[in-house]
Amino acid sequence: MNQKFDVLTDLIHSRRAIFPQNYKAGKIAPEILDAILENARWAPNHKKTEPWRFVLIENEALKELSEFLSNRYKLNTSTENFDPIKFKKAGEKPLQAAAVIAICIQRSPASHIPEWEETAALACAVQNIWLSCTALGIGSYWSSPDAIHHMKDFLRLSENESCLGLFFMGWSDYEAPVPNRKPLSEIVRRMG
Ligand SMILES: Cc1cc2nc3c(=O)[nH]c(=O)nc-3n(C[C@H](O)[C@H](O)[C@H](O)COP(=O)(O)O)c2cc1C
Repeated sequence: MNQKFDVLTDLIHSRRAIFPQNYKAGKIAPEILDAILENARWAPNHKKTEPWRFVLIENEALKELSEFLSNRYKLNTSTENFDPIKFKKAGEKPLQAAAVIAICIQRSPASHIPEWEETAALACAVQNIWLSCTALGIGSYWSSPDAIHHMKDFLRLSENESCLGLFFMGWSDYEAPVPNRKPLSEIVRRMG
């Protein structure tokens, strides 16, 4: 093809979900975080609504997030389903991360854009973030625990904002196993 395509293909294929237990200690410099978020806002979006909103969680706020997620796991789980390992992990993950981006969406009350289109635009922005992390050697993944539906107060979201995930990030050289992907023959039907 050409060099740009090869670089892009390599990045897309090597992007993996890397979990916090595989992060090394060490902060991510503010200018790096800004460069990553800058890439996010170049994602495609219908009618230029730019529906993405991000809350960058670092330092002391990661400890608060750890407590919040542990408490939420307890509140959301019945006594018979309570799993002490999951409880421990919920609280541990933010403490193992250098930063967490709360992935949020802002719906304009006047918008005629269907919600799925705004969500799709947000997901494109997250892919930009994820690929940027891959290029920089930052392990990351999109987490969507039930707790995200209860984060309005914690994240100080406004009425028309909601949280669709927590994006965990930390320096990592962990090589995650490559998952299977369906072959093109299974997912593409050709017409014409
Ligand atoms: C919208 C979305 C939500 C996700 N939520 C979770 C999650 O809650 N927990 C988790 O372990 N992985 C979550 N993931 C990551 C996927 O598990 C991961 O992307 C998938 O296993 C494919 O692996 P890969 O990203 O390394 O190709 C999520 C991914 C997406 C796109």
